[in-house]
Amino acid sequence: MDCHDTNQPTNCSQCGQRLPQAIRMESIDGRARLFHGDFRDATRLIEPAIDAVITDPPYGSGGFAASELKRPSKAKYVSTGAKYADQMPDIDGDSLLPQQWQRLMTEFLDAAWSVLKDRGILVTFIDWRNLAALHGLILESPFTFRGIAVWNKGNASRPYKNGFRMQAEYLLWATKGKLPDRDPPVYLPGVLSHTTRTNGKRHITEKPERLMEDLVEICPPGGTIFDPFMGSGTTGVAALKTGRRFVGCETVGQYFDVALQRCKEAVNAP
Ligand SMILES: C[S@@+](CC[C@H](N)C(=O)[O-])C[C@H]1O[C@@H](n2cnc3c(N)ncnc32)[C@H](O)[C@@H]1O
Repeated sequence: MDCHDTNQPTNCSQCGQRLPQAIRMESIDGRARLFHGDFRDATRLIEPAIDAVITDPPYGSGGFAASELKRPSKAKYVSTGAKYADQMPDIDGDSLLPQQWQRLMTEFLDAAWSVLKDRGILVTFIDWRNLAALHGLILESPFTFRGIAVWNKGNASRPYKNGFRMQAEYLLWATKGKLPDRDPPVYLPGVLSHTTRTNGKRHITEKPERLMEDLVEICPPGGTIFDPFMGSGTTGVAALKTGRRFVGCETVGQYFDVALQRCKEAVNAP
């Protein structure tokens, strides 16, 4: 049963402040907890025992003018004629104007800080348009900024007439205090090369499973990963398949259901 009251306004009609929403939680075998609702409400229910926040937030991207930013996600990110996106809902929080998006990202950084253990790790995707803005917000936060890794999407990505191909997205990473001690230590690559799938996508901006399997190595084996913007649950699948625990959150019902199904399959995989 979905306990969301869809008639409840999300913002106060007087002051515009966001109102808390009802949350539905599904637990999978004690290894995963998935929240259907807003991460700002879910994080109040999560104890500060998370080893790594690994996430792919709405990029607040896809244009420079307000009219371009406000276009539906499909118009911004899906190539014309791509059939897979016909049945997919838009991404929540993707049509925000710059100041609204920066507020959302600030609240995300606050939430990540509140659920991480001391020495916990934050890894967040971003594209080239808002790389500098998100970097600035991390520098202004209590996190210790550690660096930027690159996701090389390969030659299948969007070409640029008379210019450089849009071939990369970025991973900003930071820690809550010192880096964790690991024995044995890990040395992860700074460039991760994986192509996106062209068929059978379950989310408009679904990340490749192999990419996420590489990324979750930043979390110690057996640790818990939180993805506040889980979409179709790819971070969860990678975490669970590699012996980690997972906590995820998603507002859009269709994506939440896909994530739940995929995480159940990952838990039951031989
Ligand atoms: C870029 S997508 C993540 C895609 C994911 N990496 C995958 O492989 O499917 C970001 C997701 O965050 C969700 N979202 C946006 N705002 C949110 C919020 N306040 N709380 C929870 N989820 C949110 C969007 O609906 C979207 O599905």
